Amino acid sequence: MFIRMDQLIRAIATALDIVEGELLGASTHHGKRIAVLSAAMGRYCGMDTSLVSALSTCALLHDSALTEYIMAERLDSGVALSLHCHAGQRNVEALLGDNPLHAIDGFVLYHHERADGLGPFGKPEGTFPLGAAIIAIADTLDVTYHLQRISRLDVSDLRTKIAHEAGTCFTKDAAQAMLGIFDEAMLRSLRDDRILETAQSTIPVWTVDITNTTVFHLADLIARIIDYKSTFTWRHSIEIANRAWLMSGYYGYDLSLRAHLYLAAALHDLGKLAIPSQILEKPDKLDDAEFACIKSHVQHTWELLKDITGFEGICTLASSHHEKLNGTGYPWGKNAEDLDFNARMLACIDIYQAVSEARPYHGSRSHAETMPILYDMAQKGLIDKTIVGDLDTVMAPYSNQAVPGPTPY
Ligand SMILES: [Fe+2]
Ligand SMILES: [Fe+2]
Ligand SMILES: [Fe+2]
Ligand SMILES: [Fe+2]
Repeated sequence: MFIRMDQLIRAIATALDIVEGELLGASTHHGKRIAVLSAAMGRYCGMDTSLVSALSTCALLHDSALTEYIMAERLDSGVALSLHCHAGQRNVEALLGDNPLHAIDGFVLYHHERADGLGPFGKPEGTFPLGAAIIAIADTLDVTYHLQRISRLDVSDLRTKIAHEAGTCFTKDAAQAMLGIFDEAMLRSLRDDRILETAQSTIPVWTVDITNTTVFHLADLIARIIDYKSTFTWRHSIEIANRAWLMSGYYGYDLSLRAHLYLAAALHDLGKLAIPSQILEKPDKLDDAEFACIKSHVQHTWELLKDITGFEGICTLASSHHEKLNGTGYPWGKNAEDLDFNARMLACIDIYQAVSEARPYHGSRSHAETMPILYDMAQKGLIDKTIVGDLDTVMAPYSNQAVPGPTPY
């Protein structure tokens, strides 16, 4: 499957930026701003297009393991910052490992290191790669000075601070690269109203024939970002992907179609990242406005995925999971003729998962308690009767337990 990986990574970064903004109060578009600065610094330092592309990807995803870090912190308050560095490096290597953009050793792993050796791994200047030092300086400046809203007068002030901290907080070569690219024009291009356009024109185009292995890694990465937002649905996307994996095996699909479905399933609720947690986790009945807000998550999924070249089928599939055969679903009110077999299957799996998993307003349900609800919906012409029968057969052995996914791939 040929896809524009740069567009996909930007979509994931947008999702990540939303989570960071909500969970940590980070600035809007943080990842994209770091990527634009990193790409410019990489070019300034003479990196070739392939390395700038890899560096931009690492910068876009530098905090991709932040949600895992937050989850680990919820479970154990003594968790080290290095955890998200390790997990973030693992994420980018999984995505970049089987293509030519592989020269990223330590770019994310060491993105919190300092020249004076006071970072989480205690590595002083010269012992970690320039790519990591570039991401580190961009990250520190954006977190400390909120670059999306700094005023014109602050630019020279900031340049003085960068020069002053070269050799302590920042490595000398990264500070020099930042001073080489950071001016008022750059700052203007980082503002919220310009950053999407800037990211599009700065980050190199990267089209890749994506392997099944990369598809699985991608799906898992995205599912983790979505699921860790909420303690209630912390396994929702991955369970749906695993159930899609099982069902597609039952139907005898080939590996690449199974991978395709697994990814669409992992992505289906991507738009939930744009919905405030207090609405998603509200234990009481939702009012009309809140319900409309929840329903808009499908529209957001579609918005995030619709412009990715090569992703058209996955976008349609992922954003059709709340449609019903009789036209009463949302957001488009599609009917039976518009919904192919896989769209129907994903809708059935989503309902199965939502009904069986614990929610703020109901406890978890066994397979035997879940199936009558699906049969009733099938009876009313909302979902596919045959697929519901097949789900009954395939899911019966996994009542109240996690279903096996495709790992290890
Ligand atoms: Fe970080
Ligand atoms: Fe960051
Ligand atoms: Fe949904
Ligand atoms: Fe869902």
